Amino acid sequence: METVLTVPQGTFKIQRLPLRKNEKLRAWDAADEYLLQYLSENIDLSLSSKILVVNDSFGALAVALHVYKPIAISDSFLSQQATRGNLLANELSEDCVQLNSSLDWPIQKVDLVLIKVPKTLALLEDQLIRLQPLLTAETKVIAAGMVKAMSSSVWKLMERYLGATKPSLAQKKARLIFIHLNPQRVLPENPYPVYYQLENTDYRICNHANVFSRDSLDIGTRFLLQHLPKNSDARNIVDLGCGNGVVGLMLAQYHSAAHLYFIDESHMAVASAKENFYHAFAQRQADFCIADGLTDFESESIDLIVCNPPFHQQHTVSNQLALSMFKQSLRVLRKGGMLRVIGNRHLAYHIDLKNLYGNCSEIAANSKFVIWQVIKVA
Ligand SMILES: C[S@@+](CC[C@H](N)C(=O)[O-])C[C@H]1O[C@@H](n2cnc3c(N)ncnc32)[C@H](O)[C@@H]1O
Repeated sequence: METVLTVPQGTFKIQRLPLRKNEKLRAWDAADEYLLQYLSENIDLSLSSKILVVNDSFGALAVALHVYKPIAISDSFLSQQATRGNLLANELSEDCVQLNSSLDWPIQKVDLVLIKVPKTLALLEDQLIRLQPLLTAETKVIAAGMVKAMSSSVWKLMERYLGATKPSLAQKKARLIFIHLNPQRVLPENPYPVYYQLENTDYRICNHANVFSRDSLDIGTRFLLQHLPKNSDARNIVDLGCGNGVVGLMLAQYHSAAHLYFIDESHMAVASAKENFYHAFAQRQADFCIADGLTDFESESIDLIVCNPPFHQQHTVSNQLALSMFKQSLRVLRKGGMLRVIGNRHLAYHIDLKNLYGNCSEIAANSKFVIWQVIKVA
């Protein structure tokens, strides 16, 4: 797959994460190219211009604009890691880009805001609200995305929180949205995070804007919660791809002496899981890791891993992240350790699991989901 991005700002090597052999997808899209071309032809920037980039996929925008030392906001650890890696791959210092998480916005005013439209509308809404203190009457705001990702709700949010919008012509199925800031705009309170009570428990569940199944318990997660291991002798337990952490929360309840690790690549997910755990178990300790799965874990260190794997990365549907988690789990489980996984029936995870672990049993199934269990035998 093509890894060299050529735009008016220069030629850059840009790769996705996780790195994969025979990668078929580029690390940028036509909207990134369109935006960079538009900036070079239409916007006067000086080296002191303050640029804020929101939701850069894998760093293409930040790397191409590195001479301006942009601030890049992302909820994705993988996206931030990719940006760091792509800076290095182009012999640029990491200091060329200031990477901030989606919960940690800078306070300085900016001249130009570039927003890649995210998959989750709630995240966009949260970002449009958090953005406000950085805007001046002169700040230019441009959103970019592939036409198919720009539903009417995206336009409505931009108009509600920022001002009138004007579309560009479409180019290679990408479009830009130019925003004319409304000086009279009124800022509503940020509706995020949102809360619900976990059914059949007293646990209050906090969900930041980008969290999976933010408004209510997902039906797959509900099925998984009905089939969790209980009172096993597991001492070290991982909730892998924890989202708001409800799976780890119930595992903690069923294993009062165990140590729990909550892992997600989304900053907002880990922040939600942390709040939920300490709200439920004020006296207990757990670990909360913003990471690419189990990358940082020692081999043979964990007794039990439970996972409801991701099935898309940003706008792309993929089972690669799930497969990578199954492989990581094989390394990290101690001998005799167990991985329990839920998947949509059509995803047929049992094929990869059986290949990797040499065993795979079905724990439960309904018309939509199957729960599989594998044991690390050697
Ligand atoms: C289907 S959701 C499951 C969330 C939660 N465990 C549940 O069952 O409700 C998958 C989660 O995996 C996370 N994820 C995606 N890629 C990841 C990665 N490379 N490392 C860790 N977590 C990841 C997503 O952010 C998301 O929260």
